[in-house]
Order: sequence, then C-alpha cells, then structure tokens
Amino acid sequence: MDTVYQRRRQALMAQIPHGTAIFTSAPHAVMHNDVEHVFRQDSDFYYLTGFNEPDAVAVLAPHHGEHRFVLFLRPKDRDREIWSGRRVGVEAAKEQFGADVVFPIHELDEKLPEYLKTADRLYYHLGRHDGFNQKVLRHWQRLIATYAKRGTGPVAIEDAHLLLQGMRRVKTPEEIELMRKAVAVSVKAHNHAREVAQPGRYEYEVQAEMEHLFRLAGGTPAYPSIVASGDNACILHYIENNRQMQAKDLLLIDAGCCCDYYNADITRTFPVDGRFTPEQRVLYELVLEAQLKAIAAVQPGQPFNAFHDAAVRTITEGLVELGLLAGDVDTLIEEKKHRAFFMHGTGHFLGLDVHDTGILRNADKTWKPFEPGNVVTVEPGIYITPDYEPAEGQPAIDDCWRGIGIRIEDDVLVTPEGNEVLTAGVPKEIAALEH
Ligand code: GLY
Ligand code: MN
Ligand code: MN
Repeated sequence: MDTVYQRRRQALMAQIPHGTAIFTSAPHAVMHNDVEHVFRQDSDFYYLTGFNEPDAVAVLAPHHGEHRFVLFLRPKDRDREIWSGRRVGVEAAKEQFGADVVFPIHELDEKLPEYLKTADRLYYHLGRHDGFNQKVLRHWQRLIATYAKRGTGPVAIEDAHLLLQGMRRVKTPEEIELMRKAVAVSVKAHNHAREVAQPGRYEYEVQAEMEHLFRLAGGTPAYPSIVASGDNACILHYIENNRQMQAKDLLLIDAGCCCDYYNADITRTFPVDGRFTPEQRVLYELVLEAQLKAIAAVQPGQPFNAFHDAAVRTITEGLVELGLLAGDVDTLIEEKKHRAFFMHGTGHFLGLDVHDTGILRNADKTWKPFEPGNVVTVEPGIYITPDYEPAEGQPAIDDCWRGIGIRIEDDVLVTPEGNEVLTAGVPKEIAALEH
C-alpha cells in the first residue's frame, strides 16, 4: 500500500535507521466536568498515520526485522462505541492504515520494550500528555538499568517532533490542494462578512455568518474567530465578539477555516459604514504598503526574516512621516520603537497547525531561507491603543489616532519562481472596501 502517510513514515525512518520513534495521539481535552472538547488529533501523529482516534500510539522501528510500523489503539467495544462513537479496531486498522502489526492499547506496556531494546536512540516528544511522558520515561529507565546485561538499548532520548519539522515545513502537492480548499471556504466567508457588517449589527452576527459557511463546507474555525470593531481591534486576540458596531468603526476580522486538518488564516480590516476616516485611510494605506512589500520578500532563497524586516521598515518610515514616531529610521528600527504600534511578528508557517512547525534559524543564528512549498502568513498591522502613551523622546499624538487597529493577513505559498498569494480572492484595496 502506497499512501502519503506511508511515504512520510519511510522518509522519517530513513533519518533514524537504528532508532525507534514513539508518537502519541492528542490527549482528551476537558471542556467542563465530564464533557470533553471535540477531539482533534495531534498534528505529527496525523501527518504520519492519518489515524484520527484518541488513545493511540504509533511506534516506528526501522531497525526491527518484522515490525517497522506498529499501531496501538482502542479495541472494538460495542457498548463503548454506542456511547462515544465508532472505533476502527485492531482487525481493520492493519489493512486501513498500513501497519505491520496492530495491538490494543492496553498491551502497550507489555509490547513496547520489544521495539525499544535494540534501538540506539529513542525519539519521543515530551509533550502536554504528562501521564504518557512518565510512562515513556519509565520504560527508558528500565532499559538503561538493564543495558549492561544486553549491551543494546536507547542511550539517549531525542525530540521526535524536531525530526518532522523539516518535512512539515515543505508542503507536498497533496497538502497544498487541501490548503486551497480551506482557503477557498475562508475567502468566501470573508467576502460574505463585508456584505453583512453594518452599523447596528453585532460582531457575533458577523462571526456566525462566517462560521456558518465554514460548517456548510464541512469545516470548522481554524482558531477562535476575531471579529473586532472599533478599539477592540487593538486587542490582538480579542474573541469576545459581543460589541454592537457603530458608524466610523473599522472592523478587523481574523478568521480562517480548517478543512480536513489543514488551515487558512486570513485577516481583513474595513470600514463598517463603507467609508474610511482620513486617519484610518492613511494608516490602512501604510499597512497595505508594508504588507505588499513583505509579500514581495517571500521568495525562494530569501532568508526568513526578510519579509518582517521589509514590513518593519515600511511601517517605521510611514509612522515617522505621519508624526507618530520621531527620529532616525534606522535608529528607531534598531531600538524597536515600532513595537509601540506593531508589536507582533509579520508571519508564521501555516499548515496542519495554524502556527505551523518549522525551524527558522541555523545554529549560527543566520536565518533559514524560504523554499518552494513553504506556506507562510504575511500579516503586518498597526494598533494605536486608546491609552497610548509615547515612550520617552517620542511625540504626543492627537486623539484622532486613538483606537485604530488594522491588520491585513494573507497566506502565501513559496513557488520555484516566487510566490502565490493563496488568499488573493479577498480584496484589500481601498477602492474595493468603500461603498
Ligand atoms: N489568527 C492567528 C494568527 O494570525 O496568527
Ligand atoms: Mn490570523
Ligand atoms: Mn496568522
């Protein structure tokens, strides 16, 4: 059987020919008392198996003669399945997920040493699941205690998540197709939001209209949707979404859909009544200019920091021109004075996780270059909080600037020739936002 999951497992095992790697499913997340959140599989586990049940463990043991991919999972149980849903079960999983052998999860302790005792390293990510961390450490301690008698065993634990980041940061054509679907649904929702938003309506109404479209497409919000009008837009992770929108407000919407495990992440900011005020307009033009310059810096071979540097320079120059910052631009950038108004990074990798995995720097501190197949968000912003106080040496500002928050975020695919803005279907030019 040749599946994307099998190809990924083989690529990973080629990196650790004498090791054993353990990957665990995501832990259950409690909402309250005995009610749990909807289960969402751990991204590394899903990337390697495509298996989306909880209480599962995947063991990759390339050096093992017989069993290179071992899956532990919940056995079939008619009574339990009536309450909490279907299980693939031991029999069907071997065929369906391409495992060499499948065991019920309660046999993990008994079977695991078999796959560890001849490995030279154990690859495991010490993660959120503390009970499981302890279990793996106990197995490892036992093998070390008996190492002298055997002369084999994992002499060290290395992080298994790091093994995967190199693969996950370069998306395959199959992954890009999935991301295009999440993007298409999100684009439709953002375009609908502009039609729905108007003075007098509530932020949550816009949220509901967008998430309705996510759900109709079989998706879910990729993260809690931010629908922030007026000065709420200056709260970076505002998710209350309960304010009534007013004329002269800007509305900042940061919302994206997750479809089949892949995410979109889009932000647009527009005037609720279809008309920018003069201050909103100049700041919007500045954020847009910074965003376009940053996107132009997302190129194969360009270091990862180039797009942030481009955004910071454009925004700092613009703020000086507007009299919101004062001083020499290079000095202001060096002293990070832009952070009073632009306090976050310009973007992050996007994929199975919204803030996707991918090492950004080399050991010598230089930045890794973009490669074709990377997908990155480009999302500069300017936020002037109502209570802004200038730092020492910086100018006081007029009240007309206060309470304006603007971010523009697109998802950008690095191509061999340059880049493709996947989310270009949501307009961001001023002419398209005014009516
Ligand atoms: N929506 C999360 C982010 O933009 O990073
Ligand atoms: Mn976002
Ligand atoms: Mn983002």
